[in-house]
Order: sequence, then structure tokens, then C-alpha cells
Amino acid sequence: MYPVPADFAAKAHVDAAKYQEMYAASVNDPEAFWGEHGKRLDWMQPYSKVKNTTFEYGKVDIKWYEDGVLNVAYNCIDRHLATRGDQTAIIFEPDSPDTPAQYITYNELSDKVNRMANVLLSQGVMRGDRVVIYLPMIPEAAYAMLACARIGAVHSIVFAGFSPDALANRINDSGAKVVITADTAPRGGRRTALKSNCDAALLHCSDKVRCLVVKHTGDQTTWVQGRDVDVKYLMEHASPDCPCRPMNAEDPLFVLYTSGSTGKPKGVVHSSGGYLVYASMTHQYTFDYHEGDVYWCTADVGWVTGHSYIVYGPLANGGTTLMFEGVPTYPDAGRFWAVCEKHKVNQFYTAPTAIRSLMGQGKDFVTKYDLSSIKVLGSVGEPINPEAWNWYNEVVGKGKCPIVDTWWQTETGGHMLTPLPGATALKPGSATTPFFGVQPVLLDSTTGKEIDETAAEGVLAIKDSWPGQMRTVYGDHERFMQTYFSDFKGYYFTGDGCRRDKDGYYWITGRVDDVINVSGHRMGTAEVESALVAHAKVAEAAVVGYPHDLKGQGIYCYVTLMNDVEPTDALRKELEVWVRTEIGPIAKPDLIQWAPGLPKTRSGKIMRRILRKIAENDFGSLGDISTLADPSVVDELIENRMNRG
Ligand code: WTA
Repeated sequence: MYPVPADFAAKAHVDAAKYQEMYAASVNDPEAFWGEHGKRLDWMQPYSKVKNTTFEYGKVDIKWYEDGVLNVAYNCIDRHLATRGDQTAIIFEPDSPDTPAQYITYNELSDKVNRMANVLLSQGVMRGDRVVIYLPMIPEAAYAMLACARIGAVHSIVFAGFSPDALANRINDSGAKVVITADTAPRGGRRTALKSNCDAALLHCSDKVRCLVVKHTGDQTTWVQGRDVDVKYLMEHASPDCPCRPMNAEDPLFVLYTSGSTGKPKGVVHSSGGYLVYASMTHQYTFDYHEGDVYWCTADVGWVTGHSYIVYGPLANGGTTLMFEGVPTYPDAGRFWAVCEKHKVNQFYTAPTAIRSLMGQGKDFVTKYDLSSIKVLGSVGEPINPEAWNWYNEVVGKGKCPIVDTWWQTETGGHMLTPLPGATALKPGSATTPFFGVQPVLLDSTTGKEIDETAAEGVLAIKDSWPGQMRTVYGDHERFMQTYFSDFKGYYFTGDGCRRDKDGYYWITGRVDDVINVSGHRMGTAEVESALVAHAKVAEAAVVGYPHDLKGQGIYCYVTLMNDVEPTDALRKELEVWVRTEIGPIAKPDLIQWAPGLPKTRSGKIMRRILRKIAENDFGSLGDISTLADPSVVDELIENRMNRG
């Protein structure tokens, strides 16, 4: 246990006693609690009804502040202008340390967002229309998000590491009118050709989709007359005034595609009011954010962490948020710490996979920088192993900075289980206790019953709604109910396994479904499988995760080839490249095992449990394999396994 430093608790928004008091209030009377905290936003028309939610399967319906009217961009920009117009809203740190940083004030942010909003209007984007954003980590990504919010359009960001196919699927599923991209994206000294990816994607989309291009590097790209639009040029000529559209609290703010157990990613829909209340409140309390602090979240805006904790949370709080274009290891493994020193970062939030990769490079990359400005360290995306936690704590935090290990999901909009730095004693590897309003329960996976004992293990579910919860799957409410509310009636099912210790601390044990977490990137094994079987030489494929030292989980593929195809190393490479191009670099297989047969039940269902065990190099206890149609395939797979430990 690492107790809260007393001097930290004294200055924090919340200490241990206050946490208990606020938490009790939040679950005893959610209506009153969230009614009060909803006032942290500026409403054009105040809400009279706070909570109207049901998890009942078949009728799932989630509404918060339902008769309130507000504008998210107003809350992130306009309301700050009178008091902090000249304060830096966004610090932009470019890929190369030799390129000067940009300090974008709230006044400048307002100017850019208004102009971009007018550009969107000029392209025919209207309230409720979807706008796909396929941009690197540049300020224009934040401008685009806020410009959509300003006019009531719904953005859907597609991570810039996704392939043209993945981009096309998302443009089509969301029915977007425009896609915003950039010419090229510098990252780690190399350049990704985003515009040409976009060109390739648009071949599979309606020819009505407009392509708005941010000329970021000035690299040459193709240009389709009548379809492609130079955003910066139009912004210069647009009016810096665009009124904020009054939006209902329940109007969607964005759709973000995320992976599930099936092949097709689902569009997670977030609201305007409840989402922003929750993002801003968690940002303030989890990081103990104070006026004037410089806050840095290293995530990408393509993931939910970038939405809630680079853009919406910090800006709603009138904070200074840092956007970093580059990677932790360029030009060397000291870059994170160089940036922390340069901008005197106060709260630093990253993923365990980044910490693990930097740990291996030695302490000197860290210790040569002055990190005395850092007050709080954060972790997100996957369980943090104790070695990484200790290194983060000792080498980066010098034993003085509380580490907030935040467990949450794209679906939850914001932190769900997390320490509050002034209130919660820490245990390395535990996301500790719930945020205000969150009622976690452990369920017995077979009976579906709530487990009452404090010390227990089960699947993690949430008992009642919180304002940041997703509202539906875009265009498919049935799938929303099916995915999250059908296995365990009356609860939101998270898909994570979890242990609770005798002190009531929660320890996430990982996904219990076919979702894997590779370097903090969430992926459905089914997506990789569909990519593999789309290759002409592949007959069948099964994909599972296995423990990987740096990535957390690696991608292990069992591939059955077509009858007359030779399994060669060249083909292995070909399949790796194939998956990269089908989905994106984050999905590149780590290990491919040729599998003449896969373990299947007599009804033809692949027994993944067995494949996981073999991939984990833990085949001593495979459990009952008697139900297999052909048990002998198992010996063959063990014999030729790829991960020898
Ligand atoms: C995992 C990212 C352990 C978990 C915000 C969850 C974590 C999935 C943690 C969601 C954590 C996230 N400790 N596991 N602190 N944070 N996870 O949607 O399995 O990309 O279900 O959201 O990441 O991933 P997603």
C-alpha cells in the first residue's frame, strides 16, 4: 500500500473523508448528486430532469439532463474567453523537437474553431450530419471536433493508423458527408500518406463524400477537383463568427468505432450533456487538476482517451492541454521527459505499453531531465504490471507523485475505477475504487448472480447508469442491448474479468470475450480473422491474444491454408503485410502458426479456450477436450507452437 502523501491530500480537491462523503451521496441520491454537478457546465436552458435510465433488457434507455440545452463548443471555448482568453488552451508539440511548439490561446482556439465551423457549413454539413475525421495529432484535429460540436454535427474520428479499408467501412457505416484529413503525417521522423489513404478509401464510398484536406506538411498529394477542399485556405477566408447551435443534452456529440467480439466494429454513440459533465468532472478529480496546471495525455485523438482527456475534459475545465504529434522514442527514448521538462507538465497520463518500452532503455533518458513539475502520473488502457508501476513511480515520479491507474472503456466515456490522488491509498496494479456515481459489481459468470463477499473474483458489471455512459450503437440499438445488457439482465456488462480484494480494491484481470488489447489498442480477434480469411491462400484462421512483454498482449494467429498451398516463411510475411493493409499496422500478427486443423466441437465451433492455452505456452491443463470432433489436432498444435515462453 502506498498511502496518500499528507501534503498532497491537504491541497487536493478531495481527500479520503471527502471521497467517502461524496461517493455515498452519489449513489444514495444520484438525481441530487448529478443535478448539482451538472451545473459545472453552462446551459442555454437548464435541465429540470436529471436522470431517466433503465438497463432492463429490451427497453434499455439512457437519458441524462434530457430537457437541458447546451453547446459543447461553447462550454469548451466561449465561456472561458472573458476570463482566460489569453491563457494557452492547447500546447502543440510537433514530431520533431527542432520544430517550434505552438501555444494556442483560448482566443486563438475560438478564432480557428469558428472559422472551421463556417467551412463545414459552407460544405453543406448540417446539424446531425456525420463528419469523419482522419487526422494526425495536430491542432486541426481539435478544431475539427469542436467545429462539429459548434454546429451540431456528429464527428467520428478514425485513428490515423487505420488502413483505407477500415476508413471506408467507417465512412460508410456512419453515412458521413465529409471526411477531414491531412496531406501527410510526420511521426517518429517518417511520414504517413494520409491523403492517399483517404483517396483509396473514397473509392469505396459514395461519390458525394467531400474530402477536406489540411495542408499540414505541404507534401504533394493528388487532388480531385470538385471533391477535395483546402481547409486552411477556406478557413483564412471564412468568418471568425459562427453562432453556437443550441443542442439538446441527449443529442449525439460523437460516434467512435470500437472493437467487439464480432468482426464488425461498432459505432459507440456519446451524448452532449451527460458526456461532457462526466468527462470534465473526471478530468478535474482524477488528475486533481487545478487552475493553471499544464496537463498532458499522450493518447491519440483517434481513441476515446484522446476525446475525453485531451480535448473535451481539459477544455471544458478551462485547462491547458498538450497535444503531441510524435512518438515516445523519437529522436530518442527521452522524448516524453524532454517534453515534460520543456512545458513544465503537471499531470502526465500515458499507457503501460509506453512505460514498458521506455523502461528497457535505461534510467538515464529520464534522469537527465528536470521532472519536478509533475504532480500526478496516470495510466490507462490495460492492466499495469507491478514492474512498470514501480519504475513509473520511482524513476519518473521520484516516489512523490501519486499514480492514478484509470480503468474505463470507450463505452463508459470517462474513468470508472480510479484512485483520486488526494484520497486513495495505492496498490500497484489495482485501479482501486469507483469514481462518484459508479456502482461496480462482480457477477458469477455462470449463475449471473451478484457476489456479496468483499474478496472475490468474477466478471465486472455496473449496476446503474452514470452520465458518461454510451447511449446506443450507431444505427443499431438492438446490438447495443444485445452486447451489453443481455448476458446479465439488469446490468451493464463490461466484458472484463475482475478480482476484488479484502479492502474492496478492484483488480482488472483482462477481457473475458474475444477482445484483445495490443499496445493499448483495442482489437477484436474476429477482425483479424476476417482479414486473414480474405486472403486467397487461407482456408481458415483463428486468432487469440498471448502475453507479450512490451505490448501487453500479442496477436497469435492459427492459419489453415488452402489444400495445395505450401506453408513458407515468405507466405508468413505476405500474410503479415496483408493484415496490415486490411486493418492497419496495429493489427500486424506477431506469431503465425500453420494449423493443418483447428480444434472444433462436433457442431463445428472452434474451441478458443484451447487455442489460448497453447498460445500462452500453458498447455498442461487444457481441461476437457473430449467434446472435440478430432482431439488429435491438439497434439499437433502443441508440437508446433510458436511461443515457447
Ligand atoms: C482495458 C480505453 C486494466 C479493459 C480507455 C477495458 C484496462 C478496455 C484499464 C477498454 C486499466 C482500460 N486497467 N485494464 N486501467 N483501462 N483497460 O475501449 O480491458 O480502448 O475493457 O478504452 O481496456 O479499452 P478502450
